[in-house]
This record gives sequence, structure tokens and C-alpha cells, in this order.
Amino acid sequence: SPIIGGASHVGSPLADDGPRQPFVIGVSGGTASGKTTVCDMIIQQLHDHRVVLVNQDSFYRGLTAEESEYVHEYNFDHPDAFDTEQLLECIEKLRCGLAVNVPIYDFTNHRRCSESFRKVNASDVIILEGILVFHDSRVRNMMDMKIFVDTDADIRLARRIRRDTVERGRDVNSVLEQYAKFVKPAFDDFVLPTKKYADVIIPRGGDNHVAIDLIVQHIRTKLGQHDLCKIYPNVYVIQSTFQI
Ligand code: ADP
Ligand code: C5P
Repeated sequence: SPIIGGASHVGSPLADDGPRQPFVIGVSGGTASGKTTVCDMIIQQLHDHRVVLVNQDSFYRGLTAEESEYVHEYNFDHPDAFDTEQLLECIEKLRCGLAVNVPIYDFTNHRRCSESFRKVNASDVIILEGILVFHDSRVRNMMDMKIFVDTDADIRLARRIRRDTVERGRDVNSVLEQYAKFVKPAFDDFVLPTKKYADVIIPRGGDNHVAIDLIVQHIRTKLGQHDLCKIYPNVYVIQSTFQI
């Protein structure tokens, strides 16, 4: 069979003409590195495809009454702060083409909204964004492409102070204390070590238009190959690597 480079099905016959599996992209990086901004730019440029964004933040566990009392002692940057089983289930369903209900998290009171959910429909591309989306190997292994947004720590802290005081109901002192006590150590212990799993590292986040253009081109190529597979089901492909 002919060989076409660039897709993720290694040496196996490609999909028949059944429904194609969505393309799953993971976007990680430190707090306020520009993950959401990068995702929004990708979604905007992929306007002719159905793309959904899932935030790992939505899967923060709600605090118990006792934890709420000592919220300044709570480490929101540790992997255990997330309900990863629920996140996994959600991505598995989306991969199978099913719609899911994603919890809505409120950063001002550290709780999930108990009544409402955000309905996320099946789509061609699923983007999963969050500080620790590469931490759990089961979540990581569901990704077809992994992006790490790499922004200097001083810029991230400056952005975080602004964002958390304006949007998340915090004061400057509490942001600085939390950063020194939990955010920075957890970045070093849990986030930075997962950078090695990235296929693409984007310096300067949303300012890096060249990187975002290249990523979008790559996704388009992959989606095009899926379509090609439907037309030529006997075509085989080899895996390629992609780095900026
Ligand atoms: P993350 O999702 O990694 O936490 P965001 O994309 O939400 O990061 O960005 C964090 C904050 O920094 C937001 O308030 C956003 O408006 C701001 N921000 C993001 N990218 C830039 C940029 N390139 N220049 C200036 N501000 C930015
Ligand atoms: O959007 P961003 O990636 O910055 O979100 C992750 C950050 O949110 C973590 O660094 C964590 O400290 C913070 N967080 C918080 N309060 C919560 C939940 C998360 O400050 N209730």
C-alpha cells in the first residue's frame, strides 16, 4: 500500500468509513502561561471544523466544609486537587463521539456549581487544557498532540496577580503567599517534569503567531488525512514527529 507520512496510526490499516475518532490535543504549561489564550487562537483559526475546549479546572474537587475553613492551607496545584477519574471518563466519552456534561467550577468560592453543567458536544477536535493534563499517563495517552506553553515565571506571576485580583476575588497578598507556598513548588515538582512529553513547546504563548499557525496547519493536515482515509481505506501511514 502507499505510505503517507504524518498521521498517528502506525503501520495499521486506517479507519474504515465509520465515524472518525476526534483529534485530541493537550495544552499544558504553568499558571497564566497563556494556555487558554493559545487554545482560543487555535479554535478561532480552525473555524471550519467543530472544535471543543475542555478545561482541567472544571474537574477541581469541591472543598469539604473543613477544607474551606483552612483554604489558605489547601494545595490547588497538587494532582490530587483534581478528580482525574471523572476527567478521564469525560474525554473517553468525547472520543467515542458522545456529548458530555462538564462541571462548572467557581474560583471565588472554590466550589462546583451544584445545579448546572456545561454541555460539550461531540466534535472533530477536542482540546484539553490545564496545568497538569500531562501528569496522568492515561489522560496523556489519549492525546494525539501535546503542546506545552512556555512563558517565563515572572511574566506568569505578574499576569496571575492581575487576573486573580480582578477575576477570581483575591487580594495581592494572598496571591503572593499562595504562589510562594504552593504554586511555584508544585510547578517545579509536577508541571515542569511533564514538559518532556510535549510534541511542541511554544515560547511566549499567544504572542507566538508563527507557532500557532504551524500547529493549526498540522491539525488541518491530520484532519484532512482522516478524510483521505475514508476515501482510500487501504492507505497506510507512518508516524511523524513535529517540533518548532
Ligand atoms: P492560562 O490559561 O495559562 O492560565 P491565560 O491564557 O488565561 O493563561 O492568560 C492568563 C492571563 O494573562 C489572562 O488574564 C490573559 O488575558 C493574560 N494574557 C495571556 N496571554 C497574554 C499575552 N500574550 N499578553 C498579555 N497578556 C496575556
Ligand atoms: O488558569 P490556571 O491554569 O492558572 O489555573 C490553575 C491555577 O488555579 C492553579 O495554579 C491554582 O493555584 C489556581 N486555583 C486557585 N483557586 C482554586 C482553584 C485553582 O487559586 N480554587
